Amino acid sequence: MAVIFVLNGPNLNLLGKREPHIYGHTTLAEIEQKLGAAASAAGHTIDFRQSNHEGVIVDWIQEAREKAAGIIINPAALTHTSVAILDALSAFSGPILEVHLSNIHKREPFRHHSYVSRVTTGVICGLGAAGYELALHWLLEALASATAKPTTSA
Ligand code: DQA
Repeated sequence: MAVIFVLNGPNLNLLGKREPHIYGHTTLAEIEQKLGAAASAAGHTIDFRQSNHEGVIVDWIQEAREKAAGIIINPAALTHTSVAILDALSAFSGPILEVHLSNIHKREPFRHHSYVSRVTTGVICGLGAAGYELALHWLLEALASATAKPTTSA
C-alpha cells in the first residue's frame, strides 16, 4: 500500500465559495472524499492537506520524501512566486503532478509562469476539480506498472 500526498496552497480552503465562476462549486472536502475513495479502491491511500503558509508546504514536501510514493500539488498563488517550493519538490524523487483548477494560461500574465513546472512530471490545468481525479488516476496507473511483476517467458 502506497501513500500519495495531495498538497494544496493558499486560499484553496475557500474552494466552492471563492470566485466559483473561476474555481467551480466543488469544495476541497468533496475533492478529498473522491480522491480517498479512488485511492482506496486501488489499495492505496491519500494524505490530503491544505495550508495558507509557504513554509508549512515546504515541510510537508520534505515529509513526503520519507512517506509518499507520489505528490499531487496545487500550490495556488505560490505556483507563481515560490522558489522554496520548487527547491523542496526538486528533492523529491517520485512522480509529481501539478494541478490547477483554472487554465492559468488563459488568465492574467502573472499566472502564466509556474516555478514548479520545471520539476513536475506533468501539469493539468483548466479542468476544475476533475484535474485532481485525473492526476490521481495517472499516478495510480504509474504505481501499478512500477509494481507489476515482470512476466517470465518459458
Ligand atoms: C490556481 C491558480 C492560481 O493562479 C491561483 O493563485 C490559485 C488557484 C488554480 O487552481 O487554478 O489560487 O492554482
